[in-house]
Amino acid sequence: MTAEPTETRTIYLDHAATSFPKPDGVAEAMARAIGQASNAGRSGHQLALEGARILFRARRALGSLLGVADPRRVILTSGCTEALNTVIHGLDYPAGASIVTTDMEHNAVARPLRALETRLGVRIVTVSTDADGRLPPGALAAAVDETTRLVVVQQASNLTGVLQDLAQVRRECAGVPLLVDAAQSAGRVPIDVDGLGLDFVAVPGHKGLMGPGGIGALCLGVNAPLPDPLMQGGTGSNSEEDRQPELLPDRFEAGTPNVPGAAGLTEGIAWVLARGVEAIADHEQSLMAQFLEGLDALSGVRETGAADTTRRVAVASLVFEGLDPGEVAHHLERYHQILVRSGLHCAPWAHRKLGTFPRGSVRLSFGPTHSSQDVQTVLKALATLVKHGVA
Ligand code: ALA
Repeated sequence: MTAEPTETRTIYLDHAATSFPKPDGVAEAMARAIGQASNAGRSGHQLALEGARILFRARRALGSLLGVADPRRVILTSGCTEALNTVIHGLDYPAGASIVTTDMEHNAVARPLRALETRLGVRIVTVSTDADGRLPPGALAAAVDETTRLVVVQQASNLTGVLQDLAQVRRECAGVPLLVDAAQSAGRVPIDVDGLGLDFVAVPGHKGLMGPGGIGALCLGVNAPLPDPLMQGGTGSNSEEDRQPELLPDRFEAGTPNVPGAAGLTEGIAWVLARGVEAIADHEQSLMAQFLEGLDALSGVRETGAADTTRRVAVASLVFEGLDPGEVAHHLERYHQILVRSGLHCAPWAHRKLGTFPRGSVRLSFGPTHSSQDVQTVLKALATLVKHGVA
């Protein structure tokens, strides 16, 4: 962070949309990859081999961060959305099949589920979370039955940061493939794919992993059923065959891979690993505790998340009495240089559940480099705003 006076420094509170700024090494690694590597897995020359090494390093970094022992089970995708779609659209659904999910899911889950319902008639069973957006013990188990072919659960909410207990989720749907949307949790809280026996974990590269946009991953559990790939095409392997290879990760990685993105992602993950995910989680929790305590003292603004900051990442959705979320966001940027996201955050299900549909909320999402001083500055700006309004 810069040493400029706090009052004039921009405070970026949109880490749930994408982390910013990226660690210095990210852009440099991407530039190096563009200058020193070519298409991986195709030709056998030195530039192609360097491209392949870059992809391998990204898989290995993702595997060590997320607890996937075999890098071949780390599929590189264009982002979390592609990873989620690969599983949701790629599994087998016999007549009468259902998918169980929650009422807090993002459109990256809700939309492919609706499309599948329309295309194949798969029944979508939506489990109600409690007032804090958490799955009550037993709720998932009660919803899973012999027709369930997949359970899809978000680990952390992009509205309130609420964390689901993945060990409990895994226990309650034992024997059924489980897909975890880790869009808001990867790099911010520990995840152990192999240790918890998770089947599929979808992650973006550009949020908590501190990498660039346009790259993410699908982690496959040891015993995960393999979905059909979303796309078929060239992989550089089994080129004599006109059928998609079965081997991993090629089965899911048709077309030219994003080598510069992989290089940047590896650097982002190295930064996260150097800080330590536990340390990042602790830091975010203390920022949230300070923020929520300060917010309690303000009237005219309501926070929609759980009071218990030990089970949420540093994301808060605020509703201001008599003020439009878009106006508040505009005011915060114009007069306080505070950048937030307002509206529905691609999560209409969750906003309905929280009672904030259709206007949405003003979302503040902190990141690993924010300080206690930043929280104080934001609270001061909010105090001014609720006192004087946005006129
Ligand atoms: N899903 C991201 C967000 O919540 C983009 O802002």
